[in-house]
Amino acid sequence: MKSLRVGLGDRSYPIIIKNGIMAEIGAELKKQHFAKRFFVISDSTVADLYGQQLLASLQQAGYDPAILTFPAGEQSKVLSTIAELASRLAQLGMDRGDGLLALGGGVTGDITGFLAASFMRGVPFVQIPTSLLAQVDSSVGGKTGVDIPEGKNLIGAFYQPRAVYIDSQVLQSLPKEELLNGLAEVIKYGVIYDSAFFDFLDSKRLDILNLNLAVIEEMVESCCAIKAAVVEADEREADLRRILNFGHTIGHAVEADSNFQLPHGMAVAIGMVAACRVAVDKGIFSPESCERVVRLIADFGLPVAIPKNAAADKLKGYLQTDKKTVGGKVFFVLPTEIGKVVITDNVDDDMIARVLGG
Ligand code: GLY
Repeated sequence: MKSLRVGLGDRSYPIIIKNGIMAEIGAELKKQHFAKRFFVISDSTVADLYGQQLLASLQQAGYDPAILTFPAGEQSKVLSTIAELASRLAQLGMDRGDGLLALGGGVTGDITGFLAASFMRGVPFVQIPTSLLAQVDSSVGGKTGVDIPEGKNLIGAFYQPRAVYIDSQVLQSLPKEELLNGLAEVIKYGVIYDSAFFDFLDSKRLDILNLNLAVIEEMVESCCAIKAAVVEADEREADLRRILNFGHTIGHAVEADSNFQLPHGMAVAIGMVAACRVAVDKGIFSPESCERVVRLIADFGLPVAIPKNAAADKLKGYLQTDKKTVGGKVFFVLPTEIGKVVITDNVDDDMIARVLGG
């Protein structure tokens, strides 16, 4: 078992990483005393896989839980899902002494977190992430929210969970594409923060792809430790937390251009390569280090090239409307060496055009 802490004063919380912890969550919650009853929120797919196991663990610990589900998929990350779940919770008599458990991937965590932030003006919630992306990124740090037609995550709140319970074993049921989706964010941590972790990923690549659970646990722990350190330093993304957007500037443009058919992690992989190339073009990152990053991303089976059917002009349009763009300035997170990045808006249009292929 590995245990970490996100230190945010009286809103601090533990991250517990343990194979098989799904069956022990009831007992873990009993030690924390932050709610008398729990409502599990999950999507239809994950509820079928792990819902009964989680409910049984809660019942064994003496709770009387209920599970509420919504249709799996990003299309559920909308205000109407929040309203519908809130109505069902009210009908079930949930009060402020009760809590929510987010059982699922990033969509479930974001929905449940926002519901917890707003239902009765705030109830406690716990993250039980079941995708790699959620385990290494979205379950930690308190970003919650939903999409509107004008953009993803445009309505939301910073609202921290009371605990994060991570069971690496559940990754065995994850489709390969979903694993790769999370691995892009894993590689991101090595490039932005920790060159030793980048080397670890390089040397343990096959163990990771073959889901060697001891190696996966170590990898997830390193990612959560980096995420926790960044969130502790800058919870509300005023400054340092923006480094977590490495690869996301051009990544989001490519994702939007594909009409969100390209999975987020694939888009981030392409965006990380593009950011490395911009950094080389600016003369702040060595071509050798850039090639190491590109090779690692490619070796993991992730894409590295801007999709052939993505027009450079259209991609530039998406950069301008991205929510990270401030006052018309497009911000980039660029590496200066493996393990270190800078945040800058000082990138010429020509450089952007070159990496976008325009
Ligand atoms: N996923 C980026 C962040 O949590 O800030």
